[in-house]
Amino acid sequence: MSSLSSAPDPFIAFKAVQREGWSHFGPLAIFTTPAAARLVRFARITAGQRVLDVGSGTGVAAITAARLGAQVVGTDLTPELLEQAAENSRISHVDVEWRTADVEALPFGDAQFDVVISQFGHMFAPRPDVATAEMLRVLKPGGTIAFSTWPPDHFTGRMFALTARYAPPPPAGAASPVAWGEPSVVRERLGEAVRQLSFERDMMSINTLSPQHVRHFTEHTAGPVRKLVEALSGSDAAKLAAFRAEYDALAAEYFEMNQMRQSYLMTRAVKA
Ligand SMILES: C[S@@+](CC[C@H](N)C(=O)[O-])C[C@H]1O[C@@H](n2cnc3c(N)ncnc32)[C@H](O)[C@@H]1O
Repeated sequence: MSSLSSAPDPFIAFKAVQREGWSHFGPLAIFTTPAAARLVRFARITAGQRVLDVGSGTGVAAITAARLGAQVVGTDLTPELLEQAAENSRISHVDVEWRTADVEALPFGDAQFDVVISQFGHMFAPRPDVATAEMLRVLKPGGTIAFSTWPPDHFTGRMFALTARYAPPPPAGAASPVAWGEPSVVRERLGEAVRQLSFERDMMSINTLSPQHVRHFTEHTAGPVRKLVEALSGSDAAKLAAFRAEYDALAAEYFEMNQMRQSYLMTRAVKA
């Protein structure tokens, strides 16, 4: 069991806040469930492969891979979500090993997995270089890394940028999660460590009654938004109202026929 570095983690406090924020994510997984099937297909996962899912949440991608017959380990920073993941795997009658783990310090030896996937998960680690190195370290040479990420120019990416504008600045050195949605950034981050890099875009739909319903839902479930609203409630009502007004205007741009529709990016590459 070796993670890349034994140096102390400068982001321990930041990650504790992230963990608490994400612990309420469960209900949002209804919208990431179809995307999980698309990522598993895009990653070309087949029966018998040893698969690691990073940032599993409630297990949507891990369980989809396990239902194909893969041997899956699902990991996440947030233990509350892995409890729900374990319940989901019991209901689905599949065996998945669930482990609480930070993608920046994976508790696995080198070259253990045929495929490493992450659906909107590893992008939230503050150090993309560390997360990338860890995901590639545990992957066998010739194995596949595949992930889905939010681009900065579509709803969720813009919504996280809006949230960041109202929130206290993150600790120095923490990268923006949505940079992972830019193919040029992904290409640079994976660099020479991979070959056969390819990208695909897909669409996610969220059924909802109004832009305000989307905000109400994400205020309760999406870690960074929840944390911001918690901080502003009771301390700065005017700022909270301004954030909510901006959020609603942004959501309205994507709302049509009681759905929000937005594009996201899928990346796949083979470890050199
Ligand atoms: C948007 S949710 C996605 C969950 C799931 N993959 C899905 O698609 O439904 C983001 C997930 O990333 C996890 N996460 C955030 N930072 C992480 C880190 N440093 N290491 C591992 N997981 C992390 C959160 O706990 C959360 O479960």
